[in-house]
Amino acid sequence: MGSDTQVDEIADGIYRLSTFTDQVAGGFTFNQFLVRGDEPLLFHTGPRLMFPLVAAALATLIPPERLRWVSFGHWEADESGALNLWLEAAPGAEVAVGTLGTLISGTDQADRPPRPPLADGGVLDLGGKRMRWIDTPHVPHGWDAGLWFEETTSTLLCGDLLTHVGAVPALTEDDVVGPASAAEDMFGATCLTAGTAPTIRRLAALAPATLGVMHGSSFRGDGAAALGALADDYERRFQASLPR
Ligand SMILES: [Fe+2]
Ligand SMILES: [Fe+2]
Repeated sequence: MGSDTQVDEIADGIYRLSTFTDQVAGGFTFNQFLVRGDEPLLFHTGPRLMFPLVAAALATLIPPERLRWVSFGHWEADESGALNLWLEAAPGAEVAVGTLGTLISGTDQADRPPRPPLADGGVLDLGGKRMRWIDTPHVPHGWDAGLWFEETTSTLLCGDLLTHVGAVPALTEDDVVGPASAAEDMFGATCLTAGTAPTIRRLAALAPATLGVMHGSSFRGDGAAALGALADDYERRFQASLPR
């Protein structure tokens, strides 16, 4: 996998740690996000094999042992694979995810017990940053799926939503929905159900100013419009999948 991890601040106190690889789709990024509050939170652990790169990048921002919360949108190698390496590196860190992710996988997979599950809409106050957990079952995939909205910067950490390929800039104000639709054609990564578009519209209603994207550029601009257009794209896909 990649050879070095780039660090960029995408919103006040929110940092994107990005590792590029040419081994996936001709070029692809794996991004983690550090939310720097009194109790720093890492969103996505990165895969186990990428841990040395990501840990070195995080160490340019905070001593890794100060990490307080380790979180991710669902259980999967790139989201949660390096979890126990982080728990080992940061003795005070605990897993912070939603109800299903905690009860189904967290209590078994994490080397230390997770904190009590975040309910839908539940707030985790980091001190200087305020994270609201949103359940998004099966969006983009995984029964346990959920995302974070950071309220002080109006940043939605949107995980695999808006995934796009390429060696792209850390942050863009250009269209990300077109590239995301092309990537969906390529990967078919999203669970397509009657609930997909409505769940994304619920996220659009938060009107985020910044979208932290796990694979690709993060986006700054009209987050409601971007997520609305993404929901329309999934609505079209869902309707096209129905028998006539
Ligand atoms: Fe995923
Ligand atoms: Fe991912």
